[in-house]
Amino acid sequence: MTKRTIESLDNYLQSFFNQEKKSLLYNYPGLTLHRLRSDIKLHAFLNGVDTEEIFEFPYIPYRSNPITSFFEKLKEGVPLEYITGYAYFYRSLYKVTPDVLIPRNETEILVELAGLEIQKNFQDKTCRIVDVGTGSGIIALTLMMEDFATLDVTAIDISEKALVLAKENFFNLRYAISAKHNITFLKSDRLENITGNFDMILSNPPYIKRLVDQDSVHHQVLSYEPSLALFLDDDKYDLWFEDFFKEIFEKLSASGISLIEGHENHLEGLSEICKKIGFAKVQIIKDYTGRNRFLRLVKD
Ligand SMILES: C[S@@+](CC[C@H](N)C(=O)[O-])C[C@H]1O[C@@H](n2cnc3c(N)ncnc32)[C@H](O)[C@@H]1O
Repeated sequence: MTKRTIESLDNYLQSFFNQEKKSLLYNYPGLTLHRLRSDIKLHAFLNGVDTEEIFEFPYIPYRSNPITSFFEKLKEGVPLEYITGYAYFYRSLYKVTPDVLIPRNETEILVELAGLEIQKNFQDKTCRIVDVGTGSGIIALTLMMEDFATLDVTAIDISEKALVLAKENFFNLRYAISAKHNITFLKSDRLENITGNFDMILSNPPYIKRLVDQDSVHHQVLSYEPSLALFLDDDKYDLWFEDFFKEIFEKLSASGISLIEGHENHLEGLSEICKKIGFAKVQIIKDYTGRNRFLRLVKD
C-alpha cells in the first residue's frame, strides 16, 4: 500500500494551478492564483467556513465538501461567479445564478455615466429611472446605493427568474440603501408594460448578433450564460432596437436622457436609427479599451 501524504489546501491549490494551468487559462483567461485563492476563501465563507487559516487546513480530496466541489466545477470550466454564486460589481457583492448574466466591468462605466447625469440635474428633485433588462439588478441597485440623488426606480426584465434574483439582491443590500429611494420590479418586454414618463432610461440589453458575432464570444459564455441575456437574431436585430428606441423616445420626459450599452460593431448603425426617430442628441461613448460601448440619447 502506498503511503498517503496529507497536504494543506494551499499546497494542493498551487500544484493544481500549475498542473491544470493550460486548461484553466483556456476556460478562465487571465486567471491568477491570487484570484483563485480569494474565490476559494469567499466560497468557504459562504459555506460557513469563516477562518483566515483555511489554506493551512488539510485538503482531503476524497471527502465531498464545498471545497472539493469547487475544484470539480473548476475542472469543468464553470464560471467562477456561478461556482461561488456571487459576483463583485462596483463596490458590492451580488448573488448571481445561471439565470442572469455575470456583471461586466464595462457596465460600471454605464453606472458612472448615469451617476454624473443624476448628480448634475437632480439635487433638488427625485429622478425617475427605468433599468431595462435589470438581470441581477446591478445597475438599479448600485445607483441607489451610491446615493447620487433621490431615486424612484423601475427595474424591468422579461425573465421572471432574473426578477426573483434582482429582488433577492435588493433584500440582501437593503441596509446599504437609503430608505428615501424607491424601487419597483416589473416583468415587461422592453417598455411595453410601463406607463408614465421617466427622466432617465438605462439599459444593458442583449446586444450580440447570434450568428455574425458568435465567433467573438468566449466558449465559456456560450456554454454557461443565459442566451436571453446575450443574443438577438441577426435578422430581427435592427427592428428590435428600433422598437425599443421608439418606446424610449415616447417614455422619456422632455429633458430626459437615455444611456444604452451596446456592441462595438453595431452602435454606429443603431445611432443612425436613433437620429431618424428624432432624438435631439445622439452620442457614442467609448469604454476604457477605446471601443464604442454606449449610446447617450437626449430627447429634446
Ligand atoms: C445583458 S443582460 C444585462 C443584465 C444586467 N442589467 C447587467 O448589466 O448585468 C440583459 C438582460 O435583459 C433581459 N432581457 C432580454 N430581453 C428582454 C426584453 N425583451 N425585455 C426586457 N428585458 C429583456 C435579460 O433577461 C437580461 O437579464
